[in-house]
Amino acid sequence: MTGPELTTHLAARTTTMAPVVSGDPAAAAPLVIARPPTERDLAASLPVAEKVRLLSGADSWRTHDCPSVGLRQMVTSDGPNGVRGATKDERNPSACLPSPSALGASWDADLVYRLAAALGAEARSKGIDVLLAPTVNLMRTPLGGRGFEFFAEDPVLTGGLASAFVRGVQSAGVAATVKHFVGNDSETERWTYDARVSESVLRELYLLPFEACVRVAGTWLVMAAYNKVNGSPMTENLRLLRDVLKNEWGFDGVVTSDWHAARSTHATALATLDLSMPGPEGPWGELLVRAVDEGIVTKDLLDDKVARLLRLARRVGALTQPAVQLAPGDASGRAANDRVIARTTNGQAPALVDAGLLRHAAAESFVLLRNADDALPLDRSAISRLAVIGPNAVSPVIQGGGSAGVTPVSVSVPADAIRAELPDHVQVSVSAGCQTWHTVPDAPPGILTDPVTGTPGLHLEFIDREGTVIAAEHRASANLAWWDGVPDGIGWGKPGRVVLTTSFRPRESGSHLLSVAGVGSLLLQADGVTVIDGVTAVPDDPVEAMTRPGELRAGISLEAGTPARLRVEFLPAAGGEGPLAVRLGIAPVAEDDDLLAAAETAAAAADAAVVIVGSAELTESEGFDRPTLALPGRQDELIARVAAVNRNTIVVVNSGMPVLMPWAGQAAAVLYAWLPGQEFGTALADVLLGQAEPGGRLPVTIPADETTVPVLHAEPGADGVLDYSEGLLIGYRGYDAAGLAPAYAFGHGLGYTTWDYESVECARWLPDGGDLELSVRVRNTGGRSGKEVVQAYLAEPGDPARRGRPVRALAAFAVVRAAPGESAQVTVTIPARAFARYDESLASWITQGGEFTVQVGASSRDLRLTAAVRLTALSSARPGRA
Ligand code: BGC
Repeated sequence: MTGPELTTHLAARTTTMAPVVSGDPAAAAPLVIARPPTERDLAASLPVAEKVRLLSGADSWRTHDCPSVGLRQMVTSDGPNGVRGATKDERNPSACLPSPSALGASWDADLVYRLAAALGAEARSKGIDVLLAPTVNLMRTPLGGRGFEFFAEDPVLTGGLASAFVRGVQSAGVAATVKHFVGNDSETERWTYDARVSESVLRELYLLPFEACVRVAGTWLVMAAYNKVNGSPMTENLRLLRDVLKNEWGFDGVVTSDWHAARSTHATALATLDLSMPGPEGPWGELLVRAVDEGIVTKDLLDDKVARLLRLARRVGALTQPAVQLAPGDASGRAANDRVIARTTNGQAPALVDAGLLRHAAAESFVLLRNADDALPLDRSAISRLAVIGPNAVSPVIQGGGSAGVTPVSVSVPADAIRAELPDHVQVSVSAGCQTWHTVPDAPPGILTDPVTGTPGLHLEFIDREGTVIAAEHRASANLAWWDGVPDGIGWGKPGRVVLTTSFRPRESGSHLLSVAGVGSLLLQADGVTVIDGVTAVPDDPVEAMTRPGELRAGISLEAGTPARLRVEFLPAAGGEGPLAVRLGIAPVAEDDDLLAAAETAAAAADAAVVIVGSAELTESEGFDRPTLALPGRQDELIARVAAVNRNTIVVVNSGMPVLMPWAGQAAAVLYAWLPGQEFGTALADVLLGQAEPGGRLPVTIPADETTVPVLHAEPGADGVLDYSEGLLIGYRGYDAAGLAPAYAFGHGLGYTTWDYESVECARWLPDGGDLELSVRVRNTGGRSGKEVVQAYLAEPGDPARRGRPVRALAAFAVVRAAPGESAQVTVTIPARAFARYDESLASWITQGGEFTVQVGASSRDLRLTAAVRLTALSSARPGRA
């Protein structure tokens, strides 16, 4: 790891406090102490019932206030690819960042820090105190539905970038929440599965990024996951929460539950869970008060939870008395202190992350996998006809599904952005090529009209059981969700209905598909005629009530320009859980055969074809894993047919995780664009036309087929057990151990220039902890300035594969940039921990003597330089740095 993540930011802060004078004397016993009160003193001053009240949420996103100790409510919001706020609402849009797998592909901790700092500032400006990000689970399987929210398949890359993310967010005085602790690496049965994973594998892989975020970056919260690890639910996992996270790593922040993950009173409280979210219900409340009265949960343990919450409040500026006094030179603390002084920007527009930074970051994440005959960048002077093809060229997927999703401020559509960047004389044709959607797409903006206001969108009403309208408003979006804030009488199992009315003006004549989605009873009338009347099932995972609620469809024939009056009625199901959501979808019926043929014709008539394929809206989401690595729909066929008629076919893959690319050898170039956030189009135009270099390298192996993937499906057995029997051999470690070739190796990526690796030297052992500094010299041998990601892998002495250990593992990395012909020297620091392994019998990290080999290169399969490092003794490695 290199870059800012190595700096320690746990500098102790001294605090001085005036005695508490404000508040309700009945609620708080008077404090009589000679020194300024600590958070612990404040906690101890509160009655038990008040302490317990503070430890469950006030609603879906807020904590409780406690004026008697100067505590205001703290507001949480999901991340990581944006800060949504406490509502999902098109009137409250957010900057949409590249998803974490894209940031993983940048391998650039400085860039991640800058983005996260800007995200923190946006959060702050929206009154958010706690960002529920970053997600630092590992891409154990490429099918993981939430893999787009993870940085990488490797813990060192994940830990390095996630630490930068934490420091960036917290530099704005907003708390980061490292999640989901631990073993939530896949989604199937995530609420209940039991990850069986050995202690050494936990330590060396899955815990490592958490450890880095705690010990190196000083995160202020950790979120306990839904799943179990080795038989114990993570919210009740005494050993991992108390012994490892708090006692061993010294975590002094708050452990929050994942939402609804606290499912017991005593076990969670005793395991040192600090905060049960959301609220106001939950397993604590009265039951926890009783447990304290009965001595099952000690007052001391209760005070520790409250003190941690108050410490968090102080850090984010939610504890008004007194202000933070800074340790000298503590920049992140300074920002926090500024927040204490000038907390709110009420009434001002939110400080959205700068679009230019988002555009740059997306380009830095794009990975050029293949570039035969320098097909890219396109030579704009040699092109007079360009065919832009593919479902994602016109309907890009900028983010994954689930809690991370935001309503973006804007979306740069690839086809439009490419057109805009080309001179007027270039003819650009645009064709979708095929359809990939899983649910009927939302009606495009501008095609619906609110019958009450006459403006684009729809009229929303909440109607009680007597048929009285209890609330109504205009909405621009036909895809709505609520956690809180719906009127009484509306909700799961309640009698009230949600009603949408709108007028739809079709752009073309012919058959259209209409759909309504939501968990419960759904009715759709078109011009007064009922076309849908049915009930959808309650999903297993509550998040699916929002991400993929049951959908009912009907076909209807419409005339272009003749409006149809649509009315949707939604009665939420009894037994439903999670966010309340309802959606209206509309799409003209199109035949794939026709779309494919049109794309082929366009490609044949063009000088070059850019085919933008990838995930559809619901291919990748929280709540479920993908069933296959194949691209959805007939996209493989589309590419093959286009490449057969146009030898300058450039394929762009818009997926957050790996897909199979059976056509890769037929394409002139293949560019992986991930889920790149709102600036997809502008960044893509920059890269295709050469204004920017594709700066990314793979943070995950791209498989050649499904049979050789080290871990493919992640379905627990009938007993709920998910066996991590592959041990340390996930991702490239698994391919290397088995001697199998992936399609594209971990770390691979071409860029627009070439590099020679000239030398590596073991420069010195750093005195404080035994980290090893390497000095690597590379030279830009190509024709333009560029970025190289220098990767250092470490191979253990002897034959590690025979011991089930990786042949080599990433130990450190650094970004280097140089002009054509120039050489650059970069320092890459291998942490002492990279030389150690976790010995289960000793319950400790140990470093084996012998000859280690450092291999330096451009990917895990393109190693250009080696150096030997001899360690003489068996020793206990200093665990100070992950
Ligand atoms: C997700 C978390 C998220 C929380 C709140 C959970 O279902 O697993 O990542 O922060 O919901 O939306």
